[in-house]
Amino acid sequence: MWGGRFAEGPSAIMREINASIPFDKALWQQDIRASKAHVAMLGAQGIVSAQDAATIANGLDMVAGEYAANGVPENWDLEDIHMTTESRLAELIGPVAGRLHTARSRNDQVATDFRLWVRDAMDQALAGLNALQVALVTRAGEHVHSIMPGFTHLQTAQPVTLGHHLMAYYEMAARDVSRFADARARANVSPLGSAALAGTGFPIDRFATAASLDFAAPTRNSLDSVSDRDFALDYLMAAAQCALHLSRLAEEFIIWASQPFGFVRLPDALSTGSSIMPQKKNPDAAELVRGHAGRIIGSLTSLMITMKGLPLAYSKDMQDDKPPVFEAAGLLTLCIAAMTGMVESTTFRTDRMRQAAELGYATATDLADWLVRQANIPFREAHHITGAAVKLAESKGVALDQLSLDELQAIDARITEAVYPALSVEASVASRASYGGTAPSQVEQRVAEARAALGLE
Ligand code: ARG
Repeated sequence: MWGGRFAEGPSAIMREINASIPFDKALWQQDIRASKAHVAMLGAQGIVSAQDAATIANGLDMVAGEYAANGVPENWDLEDIHMTTESRLAELIGPVAGRLHTARSRNDQVATDFRLWVRDAMDQALAGLNALQVALVTRAGEHVHSIMPGFTHLQTAQPVTLGHHLMAYYEMAARDVSRFADARARANVSPLGSAALAGTGFPIDRFATAASLDFAAPTRNSLDSVSDRDFALDYLMAAAQCALHLSRLAEEFIIWASQPFGFVRLPDALSTGSSIMPQKKNPDAAELVRGHAGRIIGSLTSLMITMKGLPLAYSKDMQDDKPPVFEAAGLLTLCIAAMTGMVESTTFRTDRMRQAAELGYATATDLADWLVRQANIPFREAHHITGAAVKLAESKGVALDQLSLDELQAIDARITEAVYPALSVEASVASRASYGGTAPSQVEQRVAEARAALGLE
């Protein structure tokens, strides 16, 4: 493509280090689409004749047909998807193919193709997250009254409802949706027509190409346009944050599925067995979600480091933008789907959860709160009295409400029979009806709001 300036061809190592076709062939549909938008604009502006524009557009359709049928050929001499397509176009339609690259450079071409690809990846993430939110809100709605221990430091803290716990992940998913939507809106501008770096002397219409590629507008600065990979970083930041949430959810399922917890029975379809231990059912999908989150975060780090020291405008380092994004997108799609399936079809063992809440002194705070309310004891003192009651119950191996009134009154005489109802896990969760609290009344409202927001009602 640039033989005119060179006396010798590239060395074998140059060809190999330079070739991006092994991975950027994934952009072929975007490349054809952007080229068709470009050539239609060249024709409309009279920069190429209407006849040549039509010939080139037909030729591009033929190339696309070949790619769809046979895949994209990988010839390192042609470097990347852009040159591979242009070269095949020339084979098919002859020298008129050479007019396609008028008023264009691979720099704005790759920036456009990649933006289109990333925009699709954002849409895919949004669709996946929607399914995850539906799954979460559906299961949460089933378990508004199911009581489990809530943890801090992974130590039993206070009883919560399973619905409340699942809705916590709904909130995280909702923020992820807003991050992807925000990133998409910012990415949705067209760099096409920025040419190599400075714009072009040809009378192009960048608004027309932007519109035909469904971008909201053309970008405003040609130097920035060919150098900007913020859109990819925005995507990766949203993906990394989302993966981090999924990883935390995966971790909960892994812990809950362990025998000492026994809070869930994971779906067979998302578990594996052991080649040696016949009893095993391993939470491999959840573990891989946890593992993949590390790789997605690594992709973000990788591209940030690629970009951080680059002067304007294009440098070849930027060719390394695609592998991390492609990898992250593939992994994220899998992770969202795996966690959606897990939420949809896990069996929650609500009996085990409830038992764990009862045996873990989860209502100790309720005893302290009762002493504050009913006996007007300062909270710090009530905390101390309750601590003594827990110590006694623990030494006897019983729940708080299994201590006799005599035993409780020996710790503090102000405790009366009326304390017992306050010590049940039901009373505990029902009492936490502050806005956003775990009380079934609150969770029911949040579930209803979420269902409405998802258009389920
Ligand atoms: N394959 C290149 C990339 O992915 C295309 C842009 C090449 N531009 C250039 N000036 N060499 O970044």
